[in-house]
Amino acid sequence: MQRPPAEVLYAEELAKLKKRDRDATPPGWQLSMKAVLQFVVGGDGIDPKIVCAPSLIERALVTLASNRALLLVGEPGTAKSLLSELLAAAISGTSTLTIQGSAATTEDQIKYGWNYALLLNEGPSPRALVASPLYRGMQDGRIVRFEEITRCPPEVQDGLLSILSERLLMVPELPDSNAVFAAPGFNLIATANTRDRGVNEMSAALKRRFSFETVFPIAEYDRELALVQSEVARMLAQDGIKARPSSDVLEVLVTTFRELRQGVDKEGGASEKLSTVVSTAEAVSVAYAVTLRGHYLRGDAGRPADIVEALAGAAAKDNSDDLKKIRRYIEHRAGKRKGDHWRDFHAARHLLPQ
Ligand SMILES: Nc1ncnc2c1ncn2[C@@H]1O[C@H](COP(=O)(O)OP(=O)(O)OP(=O)(O)O)[C@@H](O)[C@H]1O
Ligand SMILES: [Mg+2]
Repeated sequence: MQRPPAEVLYAEELAKLKKRDRDATPPGWQLSMKAVLQFVVGGDGIDPKIVCAPSLIERALVTLASNRALLLVGEPGTAKSLLSELLAAAISGTSTLTIQGSAATTEDQIKYGWNYALLLNEGPSPRALVASPLYRGMQDGRIVRFEEITRCPPEVQDGLLSILSERLLMVPELPDSNAVFAAPGFNLIATANTRDRGVNEMSAALKRRFSFETVFPIAEYDRELALVQSEVARMLAQDGIKARPSSDVLEVLVTTFRELRQGVDKEGGASEKLSTVVSTAEAVSVAYAVTLRGHYLRGDAGRPADIVEALAGAAAKDNSDDLKKIRRYIEHRAGKRKGDHWRDFHAARHLLPQ
């Protein structure tokens, strides 16, 4: 598997938590609330998986145990999807009951569809019904994930209203058993990206059925650096590559990303903010790309100069203004910093596309 789901990747940890779990468990959950919290934030022999305030996870867990659904909002690349995957894996043992929201999402994908061959042959029957992830989650009492909910058309979003308030999904076509009642343990975690069509366009009725939690980028330099380092190490290990990015590369990369994101440099001076999002997720993929480049093309572990080109592709996208800002940043900020690694980075500025 190129990317195993959380419940497979962390199967051992989940089994360990289950074995020693003695705390109160909400109805339908596989683990106690405390154990789920520990699974996400780490401690007591469990690896931390998300860098954030534990209180955010606590509030999210309380919401999921209540009769409201959870909506994680924030900038792209702040680990909203990862958090929803981890929560679903720990609470329900599966994170794959997922609906991917898009402009083309239909009501069938949210509720149920039909196998048309069977439908024509034997009429509407439970056998001919094709259950959506939401349908199955309600039936089995599991957490369902709804990615990028605000990208769905509003009429499709509103299909969730009765499901979330009455916890009931009607199937009017079926003669008997025409309603699915949600089993204990069912709830919904939706994610929404503040850069796409905003949450403002959700109907007030639907908003009311969600508790909102905002996920912010990682505040501290050290924690972001440590996260990039460990994520890249994990990805490289999966590829069977022994090389790891040097501390020089990581320092230049994380500093640059943070300064371009926040518009403040570490000396306290103002620098320019990019309009494209330069998230931790992007920093991880640039660090990974830089190491792959060094490993496969030169036999080293990547150099600060490699960051320049990767930065253009990851951060500037098609925005020529951002490209100019990156150029000025390297020219004026990076150029003044001490050390061979900053010099190497600065010297590669001509590699930025014109
Ligand atoms: N606070 C954080 N803790 C742990 N990992 C993080 C954090 N912030 C970013 N990441 C990294 O970002 C990667 C994934 O981001 P994810 O896809 O979950 O973001 P997202 O918020 O869902 O973005 P989008 O809005 O674009 O869907 C993670 O795999 C992890 O490497
Ligand atoms: Mg996401």
